[in-house]
Amino acid sequence: MKVLGIETSCDETGVAIYDSATHHVTHLLHTQIALHAQYGGVVPELASRDHVQYLVPLLQELLAAEKKSVDAVAYTSGPGLVGALLVGVTFARSLAYAWQVPSMAVHHMEGHLLAPFLDHPDLTFPFLALLVSGGHTLLVDVRGLGDYHLLGESLDDAAGEALDKTAKLLGLPYPGGALLAKLAESGTPNRFHFTRPLIDRPGLDFSFSGLKTAVLHTINQFETIDEQTRADIAHAFIAAVMDTLVIKCQRALKQLNYKNLVVAGGVSANKQLRQQLTELMQTLNGKLWLARPEFCTDNGAMIAYAGYRHLAQGEQTKDLAIRVKARWPLVAYDKDNSLYPQSKL
Ligand code: KG4
Ligand code: ZN
Repeated sequence: MKVLGIETSCDETGVAIYDSATHHVTHLLHTQIALHAQYGGVVPELASRDHVQYLVPLLQELLAAEKKSVDAVAYTSGPGLVGALLVGVTFARSLAYAWQVPSMAVHHMEGHLLAPFLDHPDLTFPFLALLVSGGHTLLVDVRGLGDYHLLGESLDDAAGEALDKTAKLLGLPYPGGALLAKLAESGTPNRFHFTRPLIDRPGLDFSFSGLKTAVLHTINQFETIDEQTRADIAHAFIAAVMDTLVIKCQRALKQLNYKNLVVAGGVSANKQLRQQLTELMQTLNGKLWLARPEFCTDNGAMIAYAGYRHLAQGEQTKDLAIRVKARWPLVAYDKDNSLYPQSKL
């Protein structure tokens, strides 16, 4: 089965074709970063218009390169920016109708969650998943396809959001996560120290907004801030965020008694996080599963693949309505389930 995937939930237009017979995926991406950078963040109306402009040429290029007929269309229907989602969903549903092929609505975070399968078809359920993107920080017990149980989440800012906001405080352009990580590489270890939030309390929830405020207080101690000090602050902040994520993964793995950890979403492209988690899984005799960096951030390949997995088990989105969801929980809320007594705060 050849599934076309379409992603337009935020500031990236992604199209891809996943071929289940060969397990091969071809994808094209247009990023809107330059468009939004001048405003310091995503401007939803501009995002929608840009998706309108790029979807057709991207798809034409993909179909010309692939020379493949498409058997089904998968598309992100939420969560995300409503206008941006509407562009992709309308386009995808119309294509499926015109081509008379089945279509499948995909949850954006499920796309991220399943992305590591693209490079690791030997990955099997169950596993623990840490999903770290610009909008979400979730620890999920993944027992099977669609069988997702929430163990912990951010009570305020998502990890990526905290990285982007802190990058902004340090004068870096949007989206600053990757640039902040780069700046941190030249930082002096231990010149500054930020508390690892919520680690002295039981449970698997996260909180990153206090950390960002701590950075602001540190910056305000300086009248003028030199390049090395900015790097030193970035270093301490990145260390605090990554340590917190690693500690919570370790705690959740112990709780579930799982040996397999999947980490996905934009922040999972971070070199330091990948390194620290590799070391953790080595000490635990477990295995870390990651997507290649280009499939950590938003892309059409993960949507094509997630759509394929659902279509392959007989599901499809049948009615012709154009439905999008700005907010859409991925998982069953299990925090009070007796299966997870230690996850209660
Ligand atoms: O998954 P994603 O592309 O979009 C959402 O679904 O939100 O994640 C974007 C987030 C941004 O906050 C961005 O700063 C962060 O991922 N990010 C990184 C890196 N690459 C992207 N953060 C740290 N290090 C990176 N290399
Ligand atoms: Zn995403």
